[in-house]
Amino acid sequence: MLVAMPGLLPTTARVSLLVLLGSLLFSCSSLSHRAPEFALTKIEESDIKDASGKEPVTEDDADPEDLEVFHPTDQWQSLRAGQAVPAGSHVRLNLQTGEREAKLPDRENGQSDSREERRRRRLGKVDVDANSFTSEELKKALAKMKASEKAERKAREEEVRKKFRPIEQLKEEFEKLNMKIETDYEIMVKLISKFNSSASTLDEKVAALYDLEYYVHQVDNAKDFLSLGGLQLVIKGLNSSEASLKEHAAFVLGAALSSNPKVQIEAIEGGALQKLLVILATEQPLAVRKKALFALSSMLRHFPYAQQQFLKLGGLQVLRSLFRQKGMEPLRVRVVTLLYDLIMEKMLLEDSQHGEQMEEKMQQYQQVRLVPAVVEQGWCALVPKLLAMPEHDTREKVLKLVGVLVAFCRELYRGDSALGTALSLLRSEYEQLAAEEQSQGDKDGYFRELLASVNTILRELG
Ligand SMILES: *[C@@H]1O[C@H](CO)[C@@H](O)[C@H](O)[C@H]1NC(C)=O
Ligand SMILES: *[C@@H]1O[C@H](CO)[C@@H](O)[C@H](O)[C@H]1NC(C)=O
Repeated sequence: MLVAMPGLLPTTARVSLLVLLGSLLFSCSSLSHRAPEFALTKIEESDIKDASGKEPVTEDDADPEDLEVFHPTDQWQSLRAGQAVPAGSHVRLNLQTGEREAKLPDRENGQSDSREERRRRRLGKVDVDANSFTSEELKKALAKMKASEKAERKAREEEVRKKFRPIEQLKEEFEKLNMKIETDYEIMVKLISKFNSSASTLDEKVAALYDLEYYVHQVDNAKDFLSLGGLQLVIKGLNSSEASLKEHAAFVLGAALSSNPKVQIEAIEGGALQKLLVILATEQPLAVRKKALFALSSMLRHFPYAQQQFLKLGGLQVLRSLFRQKGMEPLRVRVVTLLYDLIMEKMLLEDSQHGEQMEEKMQQYQQVRLVPAVVEQGWCALVPKLLAMPEHDTREKVLKLVGVLVAFCRELYRGDSALGTALSLLRSEYEQLAAEEQSQGDKDGYFRELLASVNTILRELG
């Protein structure tokens, strides 16, 4: 929902959020003349396309007369949805609670319109203070906020329904107030066209992709993204000569693919798998390959057909050369995790009691000959080398994969004295750490688990 209204800015206008994210502090008055670009709200699809085919007016924030005015003090106070904030107030998002808070402007910190902030706002960036919050945290806070607003909106809709005013009249009043309601769907339409427009700058395109990534996480949005032609565009974007476009296109693709079979099918038909492998196989900045690997993982998980194609296209060789390349070390643990997940996915399915509807899936998985390919291509020797890494988290993932591989690489591992030494060292290190952990009262601790993994592998080799 977007509201551009001089003087009063209802807090339900999600616009404030975006600006908040851009600056944490802002002055409403500086915004009042400007229609901000993207609103962050979710209105059910059924609201968008009503049976009559007319563009319906949702009852969200329906009655402007119901607007309550918030009275700011010099302390931060929580805002309720529907409350209007006097111009000039400072509003911020509390990341812990997902609530918005407002107060009177603070004179010396009131320089909210710095050049940097204006730039961010223009770009619609959400990367506030990178030192304090990760974008993940922001997104979580956004999700929380949306949830609580949904509940409040429901309550308000009830209110409005009681009053029962004709939709046309409401619409007129909206128009008078220069209010504009935006759904996720409409926002995605705008973002896609921004990304697709030859008039957009590189920064604008990247910003559009950055925002799209937020929306396509939701399964329904991802389906709309598909029907709007957005998926094809980002797949094409993987072929861009601009590294930043490639990177963000892969990011959006990965998000849209996550646990979304419909998108997975369309994407593989649209040639995304080949393009991702090309990115991973060629000279590219780490950031680009990182996102490409993320998209590849989302494409392969729980999609045996894609796994089969991946093997056919030589994907495993691509990962192996990536694994060995200088400068790509941060990707190794991700590759290890992906292989482990894919191997386990198939094993768990084979172990489970499966009904008839699983038969087809089983047959598909049977054609994914991942483990033999892994063994053939030398991963048995490659993977344990990473046990030398100092990070426990990396070792944890490597131990898991070695634990699975040991059944298939046993002879090689038995003859590998370096591996034997590495495992013995890890055992003594984790024995000590597990003992400390236990003495601090943690009986099922992390190090104990790692120790158990090491011991299991040693037993298998013994
Ligand atoms: C992208 O732009 C081209 C050329 O203007 C147009 O033909 C195409 O339909 C657009 N695609 C989408 C998904 O908007
Ligand atoms: C992708 O880019 C390569 C060269 O960078 C080009 O040869 C190929 O035709 C492009 N593919 C598409 C579908 O644009």
